Amino acid sequence: MFKSKTSFKAVILAAGKGTRMKSSKPKVLHEIFSKPLVGWVVDSINEIYPQNNTQSIVVVGHGANDVEKYLKKYENATCVLQKEQLGTGHAVSMATGELKDFCGTVLITCADTPLLKSSTMRSMVEYHLEHNADVTVMSAIFDNPFGYGRIVRSQDGGIEAIVEQKDANDEQKAIKEVNAGVYCLKWESVKNAFGELKNNNSQGEYYLTDIVCWAKEKNKKALSFVIENPDETLGINSRAQLAQATQIMKNEKLNELMETGVTIVDPLSTSISPETQIGADTVIYPNTYINGKNKIGSNCKIGPFSHFRGNVEVGDYSKIGNFVELKNAKIGSHTNVSHLSYVGDATLGSNVNIGAGTIFANYNSITKEKKRSTLNDGVSIGSNTVIVAPVELGENVFVGAGSVITKNVGENSLALCRTPQKEYPDWVEKQKKLLNKGDN
Ligand code: UD1
Ligand code: CA
Repeated sequence: MFKSKTSFKAVILAAGKGTRMKSSKPKVLHEIFSKPLVGWVVDSINEIYPQNNTQSIVVVGHGANDVEKYLKKYENATCVLQKEQLGTGHAVSMATGELKDFCGTVLITCADTPLLKSSTMRSMVEYHLEHNADVTVMSAIFDNPFGYGRIVRSQDGGIEAIVEQKDANDEQKAIKEVNAGVYCLKWESVKNAFGELKNNNSQGEYYLTDIVCWAKEKNKKALSFVIENPDETLGINSRAQLAQATQIMKNEKLNELMETGVTIVDPLSTSISPETQIGADTVIYPNTYINGKNKIGSNCKIGPFSHFRGNVEVGDYSKIGNFVELKNAKIGSHTNVSHLSYVGDATLGSNVNIGAGTIFANYNSITKEKKRSTLNDGVSIGSNTVIVAPVELGENVFVGAGSVITKNVGENSLALCRTPQKEYPDWVEKQKKLLNKGDN
Protein backbone atom coordinates (compact mmCIF):
# COMPACT_ATOMS: atom_id res chain seq x y z
CA MET A 1 0.00 0.00 0.00
CA PHE A 2 2.81 2.42 0.82
CA LYS A 3 5.08 3.17 -2.08
CA SER A 4 8.06 3.94 0.12
CA LYS A 5 9.02 3.24 3.67
CA THR A 6 9.05 6.95 4.36
CA SER A 7 5.28 7.29 4.27
CA PHE A 8 4.35 5.15 7.29
CA LYS A 9 5.82 5.35 10.79
CA ALA A 10 4.75 4.33 14.27
CA VAL A 11 5.05 5.93 17.69
CA ILE A 12 4.83 3.61 20.69
CA LEU A 13 4.11 5.13 24.10
CA ALA A 14 6.15 3.31 26.72
CA ALA A 15 7.19 5.87 29.32
CA GLY A 16 4.59 5.19 32.01
CA LYS A 17 5.48 3.57 35.29
CA GLY A 18 2.99 0.77 35.56
CA THR A 19 2.54 1.29 39.30
CA ARG A 20 0.00 -1.50 39.59
CA MET A 21 2.49 -4.15 38.46
CA LYS A 22 4.24 -3.65 41.85
CA SER A 23 7.52 -4.36 40.15
CA SER A 24 11.07 -3.04 40.05
CA LYS A 25 11.02 -3.82 36.32
CA PRO A 26 9.44 -1.39 33.82
CA LYS A 27 5.97 -2.58 32.92
CA VAL A 28 6.66 -2.92 29.21
CA LEU A 29 9.47 -5.43 29.90
CA HIS A 30 7.11 -7.86 31.61
CA GLU A 31 6.78 -10.92 29.42
CA ILE A 32 4.23 -13.08 27.66
CA PHE A 33 5.75 -16.34 26.39
CA SER A 34 9.17 -14.94 27.36
CA LYS A 35 8.86 -11.90 25.10
CA PRO A 36 8.46 -8.41 26.65
CA LEU A 37 5.18 -6.60 26.03
CA VAL A 38 6.98 -3.91 24.01
CA GLY A 39 8.51 -6.66 21.83
CA TRP A 40 5.05 -8.00 20.93
CA VAL A 41 4.00 -4.49 19.94
CA VAL A 42 7.09 -3.75 17.81
CA ASP A 43 6.75 -7.15 16.10
CA SER A 44 3.08 -6.48 15.26
CA ILE A 45 3.95 -3.08 13.84
CA ASN A 46 6.66 -4.67 11.71
CA GLU A 47 4.06 -7.06 10.33
CA ILE A 48 1.61 -4.35 9.23
CA TYR A 49 3.61 -3.75 6.04
CA PRO A 50 6.42 -6.32 6.15
CA GLN A 51 8.13 -4.84 3.04
CA ASN A 52 8.12 -1.35 4.50
CA ASN A 53 10.72 -1.75 7.31
CA THR A 54 8.56 0.57 9.38
CA GLN A 55 10.37 2.84 11.81
CA SER A 56 8.98 2.64 15.36
CA ILE A 57 9.72 5.61 17.58
CA VAL A 58 9.42 4.40 21.16
CA VAL A 59 8.84 7.00 23.86
CA VAL A 60 10.65 5.73 26.96
CA GLY A 61 10.74 7.12 30.50
CA HIS A 62 10.49 4.83 33.50
CA GLY A 63 13.29 2.28 33.28
CA ALA A 64 14.40 3.94 30.02
CA ASN A 65 17.85 2.33 30.03
CA ASP A 66 16.51 -1.20 30.34
CA VAL A 67 13.84 -0.66 27.70
CA GLU A 68 16.37 0.89 25.33
CA LYS A 69 18.76 -2.00 25.91
CA TYR A 70 16.09 -4.53 25.02
CA LEU A 71 15.08 -2.60 21.90
CA LYS A 72 18.64 -2.63 20.52
CA LYS A 73 17.78 -5.87 18.73
CA TYR A 74 15.30 -3.98 16.56
CA GLU A 75 17.24 -2.03 13.93
CA ASN A 76 14.17 -0.02 13.01
CA ALA A 77 13.22 1.04 16.56
CA THR A 78 14.38 4.45 17.78
CA CYS A 79 14.02 5.49 21.41
CA VAL A 80 13.22 9.03 22.52
CA LEU A 81 13.23 10.01 26.19
CA GLN A 82 10.30 11.58 28.01
CA LYS A 83 11.95 12.66 31.26
CA GLU A 84 8.76 13.61 33.04
CA GLN A 85 5.44 11.89 32.34
CA LEU A 86 3.23 14.89 31.67
CA GLY A 87 0.61 12.97 29.68
CA THR A 88 0.10 11.08 26.44
CA GLY A 89 0.05 14.27 24.34
CA HIS A 90 3.33 15.36 25.88
CA ALA A 91 4.74 11.88 25.19
CA VAL A 92 3.97 12.17 21.46
CA SER A 93 5.54 15.64 21.37
CA MET A 94 8.83 13.96 22.42
CA ALA A 95 8.76 12.16 19.05
CA THR A 96 8.24 15.30 16.95
CA GLY A 97 12.01 15.78 16.59
CA GLU A 98 12.24 12.40 14.83
CA LEU A 99 9.21 13.21 12.65
CA LYS A 100 10.09 16.81 11.74
CA ASP A 101 9.60 16.93 7.98
CA PHE A 102 7.84 13.62 7.71
CA CYS A 103 4.87 13.46 5.34
CA GLY A 104 2.56 10.50 5.72
CA THR A 105 0.73 8.38 8.27
CA VAL A 106 1.82 8.09 11.88
CA LEU A 107 0.26 5.26 13.84
CA ILE A 108 0.34 5.81 17.58
CA THR A 109 -0.13 2.93 19.99
CA CYS A 110 0.82 1.91 23.52
CA ALA A 111 3.48 -0.59 24.55
CA ASP A 112 1.13 -2.28 26.98
CA THR A 113 -1.45 -3.60 24.47
CA PRO A 114 0.25 -6.76 23.18
CA LEU A 115 -2.90 -8.38 21.77
CA LEU A 116 -3.53 -5.82 19.07
CA LYS A 117 -3.17 -7.62 15.74
CA SER A 118 -1.21 -6.26 12.81
CA SER A 119 -4.18 -7.08 10.56
CA THR A 120 -6.43 -4.88 12.72
CA MET A 121 -3.95 -2.02 12.61
CA ARG A 122 -3.58 -2.43 8.84
CA SER A 123 -7.38 -2.22 8.41
CA MET A 124 -7.38 0.93 10.49
CA VAL A 125 -4.59 2.56 8.47
CA GLU A 126 -6.41 1.68 5.26
CA TYR A 127 -9.68 3.11 6.60
CA HIS A 128 -7.83 6.29 7.61
CA LEU A 129 -6.32 6.65 4.14
CA GLU A 130 -9.47 5.74 2.19
CA HIS A 131 -11.45 8.40 4.05
CA ASN A 132 -8.64 10.89 3.77
CA ALA A 133 -8.92 11.61 7.50
CA ASP A 134 -6.59 13.85 9.46
CA VAL A 135 -7.14 11.92 12.70
CA THR A 136 -8.56 8.41 13.11
CA VAL A 137 -9.13 7.01 16.59
CA MET A 138 -9.61 3.30 17.26
CA SER A 139 -12.68 2.73 19.41
CA ALA A 140 -14.27 -0.27 21.08
CA ILE A 141 -17.69 -0.91 22.52
CA PHE A 142 -17.48 -2.04 26.14
CA ASP A 143 -20.34 -3.07 28.44
CA ASN A 144 -18.27 -1.69 31.26
CA PRO A 145 -16.45 1.37 29.91
CA PHE A 146 -15.18 2.50 33.32
CA GLY A 147 -11.70 4.04 33.26
CA TYR A 148 -11.53 4.64 29.52
CA GLY A 149 -11.87 7.86 27.55
CA ARG A 150 -15.37 8.06 26.05
CA ILE A 151 -16.00 8.83 22.39
CA VAL A 152 -18.42 11.75 22.09
CA ARG A 153 -20.17 11.80 18.74
CA SER A 154 -21.95 14.66 17.06
CA GLN A 155 -25.46 14.37 15.57
CA ASP A 156 -24.06 13.53 12.14
CA GLY A 157 -22.20 10.54 13.62
CA GLY A 158 -18.73 12.05 13.31
CA ILE A 159 -16.56 12.26 16.39
CA GLU A 160 -16.42 15.45 18.35
CA ALA A 161 -14.29 14.79 21.41
CA ILE A 162 -12.78 12.19 23.71
CA VAL A 163 -13.59 12.76 27.36
CA GLU A 164 -11.53 11.02 30.02
CA GLN A 165 -13.28 9.16 32.85
CA LYS A 166 -12.07 11.74 35.36
CA ASP A 167 -13.39 14.64 33.29
CA ALA A 168 -16.70 13.10 32.21
CA ASN A 169 -20.20 14.16 33.30
CA ASP A 170 -22.90 11.57 34.00
CA GLU A 171 -24.26 11.65 30.46
CA GLN A 172 -20.76 11.09 29.04
CA LYS A 173 -20.03 8.34 31.56
CA ALA A 174 -22.98 6.39 30.12
CA ILE A 175 -21.31 6.23 26.68
CA LYS A 176 -20.09 2.71 25.91
CA GLU A 177 -17.87 3.55 22.96
CA VAL A 178 -14.37 4.06 24.33
CA ASN A 179 -11.00 5.18 23.06
CA ALA A 180 -8.77 2.13 22.60
CA GLY A 181 -5.65 4.31 22.64
CA VAL A 182 -4.58 3.74 19.01
CA TYR A 183 -4.51 6.60 16.51
CA CYS A 184 -3.65 7.31 12.89
CA LEU A 185 -2.52 10.84 12.13
CA LYS A 186 -1.93 12.54 8.80
CA TRP A 187 1.27 13.96 10.17
CA GLU A 188 1.82 16.99 7.97
CA SER A 189 -1.74 18.09 8.68
CA VAL A 190 -1.81 17.72 12.48
CA LYS A 191 1.77 18.02 13.69
CA ASN A 192 1.23 21.59 14.90
CA ALA A 193 -1.25 20.32 17.47
CA PHE A 194 1.61 19.12 19.64
CA GLY A 195 2.70 22.66 20.42
CA GLU A 196 -0.87 23.73 21.13
CA LEU A 197 -2.41 21.08 23.44
CA LYS A 198 -3.40 22.42 26.88
CA ASN A 199 -3.31 20.71 30.27
CA ASN A 200 -6.40 22.35 31.77
CA ASN A 201 -8.05 19.07 32.87
CA SER A 202 -8.58 17.22 36.13
CA GLN A 203 -5.19 15.44 35.88
CA GLY A 204 -3.19 18.48 34.76
CA GLU A 205 -1.84 16.39 31.86
CA TYR A 206 -1.36 17.04 28.18
CA TYR A 207 -3.88 14.63 26.69
CA LEU A 208 -3.26 13.15 23.26
CA THR A 209 -7.03 12.67 23.09
CA ASP A 210 -7.50 16.45 22.85
CA ILE A 211 -6.23 16.21 19.30
CA VAL A 212 -9.82 15.39 18.29
CA CYS A 213 -11.12 18.78 19.55
CA TRP A 214 -8.08 20.48 18.09
CA ALA A 215 -8.85 18.95 14.69
CA LYS A 216 -12.50 20.04 14.91
CA GLU A 217 -11.47 23.63 15.66
CA LYS A 218 -9.20 23.63 12.61
CA ASN A 219 -11.89 22.11 10.38
CA LYS A 220 -9.97 18.90 9.98
CA LYS A 221 -11.48 15.47 9.61
CA ALA A 222 -11.60 13.22 12.71
CA LEU A 223 -13.03 9.72 12.47
CA SER A 224 -13.28 6.64 14.62
CA PHE A 225 -12.54 3.10 13.54
CA VAL A 226 -14.57 0.65 15.61
CA ILE A 227 -12.64 -2.52 16.38
CA GLU A 228 -14.46 -5.84 15.85
CA ASN A 229 -12.89 -7.78 18.70
CA PRO A 230 -12.50 -5.59 21.81
CA ASP A 231 -10.31 -8.28 23.44
CA GLU A 232 -7.45 -7.03 21.28
CA THR A 233 -7.38 -3.71 23.08
CA LEU A 234 -6.73 -5.25 26.50
CA GLY A 235 -4.15 -3.07 28.21
CA ILE A 236 -1.79 -4.60 30.78
CA ASN A 237 -1.78 -2.66 34.02
CA SER A 238 -1.60 -5.47 36.58
CA ARG A 239 -0.30 -9.01 36.98
CA ALA A 240 -3.88 -10.27 36.67
CA GLN A 241 -4.21 -8.59 33.26
CA LEU A 242 -0.82 -10.01 32.26
CA ALA A 243 -2.15 -13.49 33.03
CA GLN A 244 -5.40 -12.72 31.21
CA ALA A 245 -3.53 -11.62 28.08
CA THR A 246 -1.36 -14.75 28.24
CA GLN A 247 -4.50 -16.91 28.40
CA ILE A 248 -6.11 -15.12 25.46
CA MET A 249 -2.97 -15.48 23.35
CA LYS A 250 -2.59 -19.13 24.25
CA ASN A 251 -6.24 -20.06 23.64
CA GLU A 252 -6.19 -18.33 20.29
CA LYS A 253 -3.12 -20.35 19.31
CA LEU A 254 -4.62 -23.66 20.47
CA ASN A 255 -7.82 -22.99 18.51
CA GLU A 256 -5.83 -22.07 15.41
CA LEU A 257 -3.81 -25.29 15.70
CA MET A 258 -6.89 -27.46 16.20
CA GLU A 259 -8.50 -25.85 13.17
CA THR A 260 -5.47 -26.77 11.07
CA GLY A 261 -5.53 -30.42 12.13
CA VAL A 262 -3.45 -30.64 15.30
CA THR A 263 -4.90 -32.67 18.19
CA ILE A 264 -4.61 -30.97 21.57
CA VAL A 265 -5.65 -33.64 24.06
CA ASP A 266 -6.11 -31.26 26.99
CA PRO A 267 -6.19 -27.58 26.04
CA LEU A 268 -6.47 -26.53 29.69
CA SER A 269 -3.06 -27.90 30.62
CA THR A 270 -1.29 -27.10 27.33
CA SER A 271 0.54 -23.88 26.51
CA ILE A 272 1.84 -23.19 23.03
CA SER A 273 3.37 -19.87 22.01
CA PRO A 274 1.88 -18.08 19.02
CA GLU A 275 5.28 -18.27 17.33
CA THR A 276 5.26 -22.07 17.07
CA GLN A 277 4.18 -23.89 13.92
CA ILE A 278 2.85 -27.44 14.10
CA GLY A 279 1.93 -29.75 11.22
CA ALA A 280 -1.35 -31.62 10.81
CA ASP A 281 -2.02 -34.90 12.63
CA THR A 282 0.49 -34.16 15.34
CA VAL A 283 -0.88 -34.95 18.79
CA ILE A 284 -0.01 -32.79 21.79
CA TYR A 285 -0.51 -34.63 25.09
CA PRO A 286 -1.37 -32.90 28.38
CA ASN A 287 0.89 -30.66 30.45
CA THR A 288 3.10 -29.67 27.55
CA TYR A 289 4.68 -26.21 27.49
CA ILE A 290 5.97 -24.99 24.13
CA ASN A 291 7.63 -21.59 24.43
CA GLY A 292 9.33 -19.36 21.86
CA LYS A 293 9.72 -19.97 18.14
CA ASN A 294 9.55 -23.65 17.11
CA LYS A 295 8.61 -25.71 14.11
CA ILE A 296 7.13 -29.14 14.70
CA GLY A 297 6.29 -31.39 11.76
CA SER A 298 3.20 -33.48 11.09
CA ASN A 299 2.27 -36.83 12.62
CA CYS A 300 4.45 -36.23 15.69
CA LYS A 301 3.62 -37.16 19.27
CA ILE A 302 4.55 -34.52 21.82
CA GLY A 303 4.22 -34.95 25.58
CA PRO A 304 2.79 -35.50 28.07
CA PHE A 305 4.98 -33.14 30.12
CA SER A 306 7.33 -31.96 27.35
CA HIS A 307 9.03 -28.57 27.56
CA PHE A 308 10.19 -26.69 24.46
CA ARG A 309 12.30 -23.62 25.24
CA GLY A 310 12.49 -22.18 21.74
CA ASN A 311 14.35 -22.51 18.46
CA VAL A 312 13.49 -26.18 18.15
CA GLU A 313 12.69 -27.95 14.90
CA VAL A 314 11.19 -31.43 14.86
CA GLY A 315 10.68 -33.41 11.64
CA ASP A 316 7.61 -35.47 10.73
CA TYR A 317 6.69 -38.67 12.61
CA SER A 318 8.99 -37.94 15.54
CA LYS A 319 8.22 -38.42 19.20
CA ILE A 320 9.11 -36.17 22.11
CA GLY A 321 8.02 -37.82 25.32
CA ASN A 322 7.52 -37.07 28.99
CA PHE A 323 9.93 -34.92 30.96
CA VAL A 324 11.95 -34.03 27.89
CA GLU A 325 13.36 -30.50 27.70
CA LEU A 326 14.47 -29.14 24.32
CA LYS A 327 16.25 -25.94 23.37
CA ASN A 328 18.03 -24.79 20.23
CA ALA A 329 17.75 -28.22 18.65
CA LYS A 330 17.17 -29.49 15.15
CA ILE A 331 15.64 -32.94 15.13
CA GLY A 332 14.96 -35.01 12.01
CA SER A 333 12.00 -37.20 11.16
CA HIS A 334 11.12 -40.58 12.71
CA THR A 335 13.36 -39.72 15.66
CA ASN A 336 12.39 -40.54 19.25
CA VAL A 337 13.36 -38.70 22.40
CA SER A 338 10.91 -40.51 24.57
CA HIS A 339 11.65 -39.92 28.22
CA LEU A 340 13.54 -37.87 30.81
CA SER A 341 16.09 -36.20 28.57
CA TYR A 342 17.62 -32.81 27.91
CA VAL A 343 18.48 -31.92 24.31
CA GLY A 344 20.07 -28.47 24.07
CA ASP A 345 22.23 -27.04 21.27
CA ALA A 346 22.14 -30.23 19.24
CA THR A 347 21.39 -31.52 15.77
CA LEU A 348 19.82 -34.97 15.56
CA GLY A 349 19.28 -36.65 12.20
CA SER A 350 16.44 -38.93 11.18
CA ASN A 351 15.69 -42.33 12.70
CA VAL A 352 17.68 -41.46 15.79
CA ASN A 353 16.73 -43.06 19.08
CA ILE A 354 17.59 -41.36 22.35
CA GLY A 355 17.35 -43.63 25.42
CA ALA A 356 15.78 -42.52 28.68
CA GLY A 357 17.74 -40.08 30.78
CA THR A 358 20.12 -38.86 28.08
CA ILE A 359 21.66 -35.46 28.71
CA PHE A 360 23.33 -33.19 26.17
CA ALA A 361 25.97 -31.39 28.26
CA ASN A 362 26.21 -28.19 26.24
CA TYR A 363 27.43 -25.65 28.78
CA ASN A 364 30.85 -24.99 30.27
CA SER A 365 30.27 -23.03 33.45
CA ILE A 366 33.87 -21.79 33.58
CA THR A 367 34.16 -20.44 30.04
CA LYS A 368 30.39 -19.72 29.99
CA GLU A 369 30.39 -21.13 26.48
CA LYS A 370 27.73 -23.29 24.90
CA LYS A 371 28.76 -25.84 22.31
CA ARG A 372 26.80 -27.94 19.85
CA SER A 373 26.74 -31.66 19.22
CA THR A 374 25.59 -33.56 16.14
CA LEU A 375 24.13 -37.04 15.94
CA ASN A 376 23.79 -38.25 12.36
CA ASP A 377 20.99 -40.42 10.94
CA GLY A 378 20.31 -43.76 12.60
CA VAL A 379 22.26 -43.11 15.81
CA SER A 380 21.06 -45.04 18.84
CA ILE A 381 21.90 -43.78 22.32
CA GLY A 382 21.57 -46.08 25.33
CA SER A 383 19.85 -44.86 28.48
CA ASN A 384 21.55 -42.55 30.95
CA THR A 385 24.15 -41.29 28.51
CA VAL A 386 25.87 -37.91 28.65
CA ILE A 387 26.88 -36.35 25.33
CA VAL A 388 29.53 -33.74 26.17
CA ALA A 389 29.62 -31.04 23.48
CA PRO A 390 31.14 -30.53 21.03
CA VAL A 391 31.02 -34.04 19.55
CA GLU A 392 29.80 -35.60 16.33
CA LEU A 393 28.54 -39.16 16.08
CA GLY A 394 28.56 -40.68 12.58
CA GLU A 395 25.65 -42.49 10.97
CA ASN A 396 24.28 -45.55 12.78
CA VAL A 397 26.59 -45.19 15.78
CA PHE A 398 25.50 -47.23 18.75
CA VAL A 399 26.26 -45.92 22.25
CA GLY A 400 26.01 -48.27 25.22
CA ALA A 401 23.87 -47.24 28.19
CA GLY A 402 25.54 -45.17 30.89
CA SER A 403 28.31 -43.80 28.64
CA VAL A 404 29.87 -40.37 28.86
CA ILE A 405 30.75 -39.42 25.28
CA THR A 406 33.47 -36.80 24.98
CA LYS A 407 34.98 -37.67 21.58
CA ASN A 408 33.68 -38.01 18.03
CA VAL A 409 32.62 -41.51 17.00
CA GLY A 410 32.94 -42.83 13.43
CA GLU A 411 29.94 -44.25 11.58
CA ASN A 412 28.65 -47.76 12.34
CA SER A 413 30.78 -48.03 15.52
CA LEU A 414 29.83 -49.00 19.03
CA ALA A 415 30.98 -46.48 21.63
CA LEU A 416 31.05 -47.63 25.20
CA CYS A 417 32.45 -45.58 28.00
CA ARG A 418 31.87 -47.03 31.43
CA THR A 419 33.75 -49.09 34.01
CA PRO A 420 33.57 -52.78 33.07
CA GLN A 421 31.24 -54.76 35.28
CA LYS A 422 32.90 -56.96 37.94
CA GLU A 423 31.31 -59.87 39.75
CA TYR A 424 32.30 -61.05 43.28
CA PRO A 425 30.79 -64.55 43.78
CA ASP A 426 29.18 -65.33 47.15
CA TRP A 427 29.86 -61.78 48.33
CA VAL A 428 26.54 -61.49 50.16
CA GLU A 429 27.03 -64.72 52.07
CA LYS A 430 30.54 -63.65 53.07
CA GLN A 431 29.26 -60.33 54.38
CA LYS A 432 26.60 -62.10 56.47
CA LYS A 433 29.19 -64.42 57.99
CA LEU A 434 31.39 -61.49 58.94
CA LEU A 435 28.42 -59.83 60.63
CA ASN A 436 27.56 -62.98 62.63
CA LYS A 437 31.16 -63.26 63.87
CA GLY A 438 30.96 -59.73 65.17
CA ASP A 439 27.80 -60.64 67.18
CA ASN A 440 29.60 -63.33 69.27
C1 UD1 B 1 -5.46 6.58 27.71
C2 UD1 B 1 -6.39 7.54 27.00
C3 UD1 B 1 -7.82 7.03 27.15
C4 UD1 B 1 -7.93 5.62 26.59
C5 UD1 B 1 -6.91 4.70 27.24
C6 UD1 B 1 -6.88 3.40 26.52
C7 UD1 B 1 -5.33 9.73 27.24
C8 UD1 B 1 -5.40 11.04 27.90
N1 UD1 B 1 -6.27 8.84 27.58
O1 UD1 B 1 -5.81 6.64 29.09
O2 UD1 B 1 -8.71 7.90 26.45
O3 UD1 B 1 -9.25 5.14 26.79
O4 UD1 B 1 -5.59 5.27 27.16
O5 UD1 B 1 -6.06 2.47 27.17
O6 UD1 B 1 -4.50 9.52 26.39
N2 UD1 B 1 2.37 7.38 28.64
C9 UD1 B 1 3.58 7.95 28.37
N3 UD1 B 1 3.86 9.18 28.89
C10 UD1 B 1 2.98 9.86 29.64
C11 UD1 B 1 1.73 9.26 29.92
C12 UD1 B 1 1.45 8.03 29.40
O7 UD1 B 1 4.42 7.37 27.67
O8 UD1 B 1 3.31 10.98 30.06
C13 UD1 B 1 2.07 6.06 28.06
C14 UD1 B 1 1.86 4.99 29.12
O9 UD1 B 1 3.07 4.32 29.43
C15 UD1 B 1 0.87 4.07 28.45
C16 UD1 B 1 0.09 5.00 27.52
O10 UD1 B 1 0.86 6.14 27.36
O11 UD1 B 1 1.53 3.09 27.64
C17 UD1 B 1 -1.30 5.34 28.04
O12 UD1 B 1 -1.15 6.06 29.24
P1 UD1 B 1 -2.11 5.87 30.48
O13 UD1 B 1 -1.71 6.77 31.54
O14 UD1 B 1 -2.22 4.41 30.80
O15 UD1 B 1 -3.47 6.38 29.84
P2 UD1 B 1 -4.91 6.02 30.30
O16 UD1 B 1 -5.27 6.79 31.52
O17 UD1 B 1 -5.10 4.57 30.35
CA1 CA C 1 -3.73 2.76 30.68
